[in-house]
Amino acid sequence: MVALKDADKEVVEIIEQERLRQESSLEMIPSENFTSRAVMEASGSVLTNKYSEGYAHRRYYGGNEHIDEVEDLAIARAKELFRVEHVNVQPYSGSPANLAVYLATCKPGDAFMGLNLLDGGHLTHGWKVSASALFYHSVPYHVRPDGYLDMEEVRRLALEHRPKLIWCGITAYTREVPFAEFAKIADEVGAYLVADIAHISGLVATGAHPSPVPHVHLVTTTSHKTLRGPRGGMIMVTKKGLEKDPDLAKKVDRAVFPGLQGGPHDHTTAALAVALKEALQPDFKVYIAQVVKNCQALGMAMAAKGITLVTGGSDNHMQLIDLTPFGKGKGLYVQEALDIAGITVNKNTVPGEPSSPFYPSGIRLGTPALTTRGMKEQEMEQIGGWIAEVIGLVKDFGMPDDKAERTEAITHFRKWLEGDARIREIREEVRALAGRFPLYPGLTYR
Ligand SMILES: Cc1ncc(COP(=O)(O)O)c(C=O)c1O
Repeated sequence: MVALKDADKEVVEIIEQERLRQESSLEMIPSENFTSRAVMEASGSVLTNKYSEGYAHRRYYGGNEHIDEVEDLAIARAKELFRVEHVNVQPYSGSPANLAVYLATCKPGDAFMGLNLLDGGHLTHGWKVSASALFYHSVPYHVRPDGYLDMEEVRRLALEHRPKLIWCGITAYTREVPFAEFAKIADEVGAYLVADIAHISGLVATGAHPSPVPHVHLVTTTSHKTLRGPRGGMIMVTKKGLEKDPDLAKKVDRAVFPGLQGGPHDHTTAALAVALKEALQPDFKVYIAQVVKNCQALGMAMAAKGITLVTGGSDNHMQLIDLTPFGKGKGLYVQEALDIAGITVNKNTVPGEPSSPFYPSGIRLGTPALTTRGMKEQEMEQIGGWIAEVIGLVKDFGMPDDKAERTEAITHFRKWLEGDARIREIREEVRALAGRFPLYPGLTYR
């Protein structure tokens, strides 16, 4: 059989260019990370060839004796790491995991609550275009003007709407999620409480964020963010969940297959098992502690240069920059300028967003990927300085409301960006820093 480098030069070149991009830039999207070579190897293994619809020891196809072993292993490791009663490792990713939770717990049209997308929630927690809101009745809750979750509103809405399900989970929120407070409210109205720990699963696994497990009925997560595994998802059922509904584990399994999916991605299951083993080692705890320390150092460095942070800082792995002191809708300018500088972040809405999700007024950024490279507080200080400097360079570009004016303003900005010398200098400084923290030494696809 022909190896990739001889079979398809076009694809090899694309992969190689992406590898070089990852090596030479600063990856600060808080939902991204760099897996180990071991995780990537398992993900690219012969397990990709197998069909295994069903669950371990109850498959619809033959030849699954080794797939059963790897799925059993992944489940055992997830149970040990998160201390839960039941785990389903088959969801293809975080969104299908969340959809399976609806299928397991709600009937179409049932009311549920989740954090509004623009306030830091996820699409699947009830945003209007998501299947969650199309098939079920979404009642969003929000953050207060100070950026913290509005728990009074959560209780008021729960008493008013009597939801079947309440999500507590975040995509763009930098503070601790108060699982115990959510549990009090969910228990008061008899709702299922589900923690979506996609972002913070690495923190939860190591105690850097309190665990939702004693408080909630179900937990969902992706495996590719702070947990540093392959792209995938998991659904966990807690002791409290089984006490509320002894059939909950069965309902979850049936919702995943045959409710929503066919054959699981066994190569991902194997890679997940590897990642979970890594997460059970003492050095993963050290890694996550450094992620949090780095995030705080980054926040302090930016704040010292006059950058405003939503809630004033962070308890977890991400920071949310509030650009509204410079005007509204400037997230796009900052994101594009930082991209040219080799610093990858994403534009994001801020609490009370005065613009729109397409032209938001904030920037979300985080430290999981940089910390995997070995960077520490000293590097965060330098990076925070670059970010503040780039914001200073672009802060006066306006973002008009009128569509035609806006198009013109963005074109003008991009032209300026092409010619700016300082941002290109920062790009070279970024390249030099990244070069001191090699990502996959010796790896090439050519
Ligand atoms: C809280 C949360 N839940 C679910 C997801 C969805 O995961 P995926 O993109 O793997 O479908 C995300 C992704 O960003 C997330 O942040």
